[in-house]
Amino acid sequence: MGKPHECILSTEQIKNRITELGPWFHNMNLCGIQTAPDHFLGDYPSIKWTRFSHAMPSDLRGKTVLDIGCNAGFYSIEMKKRGADRVIAIDHDSAYLEQARFAARVHGMEIEFNQMSVYEVAELGERFDIVIFMGLFYHLRHPLLALDLIHEYAAKDILIFQSMLRGSSSIDQVAYDYPFSEQEIFHEPGFPSMYFIENRYSGDPTNWWVPNKSCVEALLRSSGFEIISNPEEEVYACRRVEAPEFSKENLPAGAMK
Ligand SMILES: C[S@@+](CC[C@H](N)C(=O)[O-])C[C@H]1O[C@@H](n2cnc3c(N)ncnc32)[C@H](O)[C@@H]1O
Repeated sequence: MGKPHECILSTEQIKNRITELGPWFHNMNLCGIQTAPDHFLGDYPSIKWTRFSHAMPSDLRGKTVLDIGCNAGFYSIEMKKRGADRVIAIDHDSAYLEQARFAARVHGMEIEFNQMSVYEVAELGERFDIVIFMGLFYHLRHPLLALDLIHEYAAKDILIFQSMLRGSSSIDQVAYDYPFSEQEIFHEPGFPSMYFIENRYSGDPTNWWVPNKSCVEALLRSSGFEIISNPEEEVYACRRVEAPEFSKENLPAGAMK
């Protein structure tokens, strides 16, 4: 890991740059200065990371990482701190990427940042040992397509997944099939379901689909991700496996260009 060379900037200079690049969603600690000290979720995402960091290998030497929807790069930087050989981080928002570039420089870390949508992962032309797909699923109008594309083109082994979850957290065993006459099952709280937000949730018009816990687990399995652990309420560590035969479709790689 390199020396955090930009700490030679004065406190004032760092504060000014943080202000220029704001507003920040990630509360990063840049040379002791917080980028989003009044975050509505507290010290975010540190507060979340401390609850599941034990589930990640502490030594990532020799590993490649893709951080999808990286925002200001909090998780990319954590992966570098654990020695990952290469970290590629993508986000579709150039302002967040600017924040991430500054944060990585302050930490003296080499991370490749690309302005790119999750729907374009095929264009990276590479599979990664670890794919981080956190906090993005519910911001997508086509979330299952994103998961399928990640499976088909980007994931080699481990997927770290997180979604906002709402509704019941109970989980029913899903049967292989149901008769057409079965209707009661759809009223069961533990049946997989996803809420569609037509307008806004939490003031954010990009919150589109919010799954319940049972749904998120079913979606992961259905896209070819075996759940290894659920170390934090919303976080899943998964292993890429073959997708179930009936889940396979011809995916429109690059169709969202
Ligand atoms: C709630 S933030 C999550 C940031 C980070 N992954 C985390 O878990 O803290 C969602 C991020 O996804 C990015 N994003 C939204 N839609 C995207 C898309 N289609 N492709 C890539 N990034 C996207 C946003 O710009 C934002 O940085």
